[in-house]
Amino acid sequence: MGSDATMDKIVSLCKRRGFVFQSSEVYGGLSSAWDYGPLGVELKRNIQDFWWKEMTQLHDNIVGLDAAILMHPRVWEASGHVENFSDPMVDCKECKSRFRADQIDLDKACPNCGKKESFTEPRDFNLMFSTHLGPVKDDKNIVFLRPETAQGIFVNFKNVVNSNRMKVPFGIAQVGKAFRNEIVTKNFIFRTCEFEQMEMQFFCKPGTDDEWFEFWKKERMEYYSKLGIHPENLRFHRHGEDELAHYAKDAFDIEFLFPMGWQELEGVHSRTDFDLSRHIEFSGKNDLLYMDPQTNERYVPYVVETSAGLTRSVLMVLSDAYEEEKLENGDVRTVMKFHPKIAPVKVAVLPLVKKDGIAELAKDIEKGLREDFTTFYDQSGAIGRRYRRMDEIGTPFCITVDYDTKEDNSVTVRFRDSMEQERVAISDLASLLKKKMNEYSRV
Ligand code: GAP
Repeated sequence: MGSDATMDKIVSLCKRRGFVFQSSEVYGGLSSAWDYGPLGVELKRNIQDFWWKEMTQLHDNIVGLDAAILMHPRVWEASGHVENFSDPMVDCKECKSRFRADQIDLDKACPNCGKKESFTEPRDFNLMFSTHLGPVKDDKNIVFLRPETAQGIFVNFKNVVNSNRMKVPFGIAQVGKAFRNEIVTKNFIFRTCEFEQMEMQFFCKPGTDDEWFEFWKKERMEYYSKLGIHPENLRFHRHGEDELAHYAKDAFDIEFLFPMGWQELEGVHSRTDFDLSRHIEFSGKNDLLYMDPQTNERYVPYVVETSAGLTRSVLMVLSDAYEEEKLENGDVRTVMKFHPKIAPVKVAVLPLVKKDGIAELAKDIEKGLREDFTTFYDQSGAIGRRYRRMDEIGTPFCITVDYDTKEDNSVTVRFRDSMEQERVAISDLASLLKKKMNEYSRV
């Protein structure tokens, strides 16, 4: 992580500057639910766009999908989630705290109250939220809020093959909300009951899946360095037999060094033909078989999945970007060193003075940049203070407009990370900033 990040500092900055707020705060908050404020929503969307471009535009043969959150309940029987998607739960009989049995030592005392041998027997707790479709609440109308976006991709496999003439190997990418009734939610937006995933299912010929698994492990790790994340904050963790999900033959987590330690950020899973075969079995239809147009061979494709948390990625990016730098005058500046492509505000335009038409000129320059960049205009306070405010929200470029601008049609660009300044003609501004964004490398 950014060497100065602690969870308290991040949570406080997020609230202060409008990245993330506690949900329903005026009512005392709802545990584990969070709202993304004006800057948070930009940051989250920019991460999503970065991922989407990386997965669809920059790869051959990956197309997108946006499936509904509510699906036929049989989907979740076929996928194994009704039967298997549960965590073992124990309660402390003394203080009534609830824990995941696999995350504590049951032979030791309760982590909350210290009482020994106080736990109930572990019980399986299904993580899916359910509700009823339509006005009648009976068992026939139960539907689930999807616990992963992946199943929307599997059940649309044939639709995508037919409508878009896709040929194996190919992938389908999707970003969307998923819901899990987590037993323990903590650490801010790290584990929440409502979250967003960025998933891609890559369909390949049986027997080629190991190769694609290696390919996607590498690709996904490279993606994080493109995003500007410190490589020393990332590592792979291979799942042991006891950790593998019910659908997985092999799985690696990409872990990130969050303020609370190393934790999963993304899973790369070898899902075999488990899901498609189960949907064939449960739907009774052979639609999900693939016919190879070259060889006329029919088979159920194997799947390699990459599954990243979008909301969890927001926490990663905030943690990795956070730095406190001691300046020559003894002040400390807090600076979020986001990759410029995901920074919520790209360019701030700051007139050095308000009078003599400088403010109007600066406003015109800011308006001229809006088509290409998210901009921010600020004319209040000392320039040093205005820079600090922009550093704290990670704005990569600040532009100052002064008396000389009127004469020479140029402005001063100040770069967030180095704090260096450069005089640039207004006519060259947009192309220079784009070039700097594309060339950006933090590490
Ligand atoms: N389709 C496979 C799947 O859902 P997963 O490992 O259960 O796999 C994938 O989840 C990713 O989704 C995780 O690596 C994490 O980033 C994110 N995720 C899972 N549960 C989450 C939660 N409760 N809150 C936030 N993000 C979560």
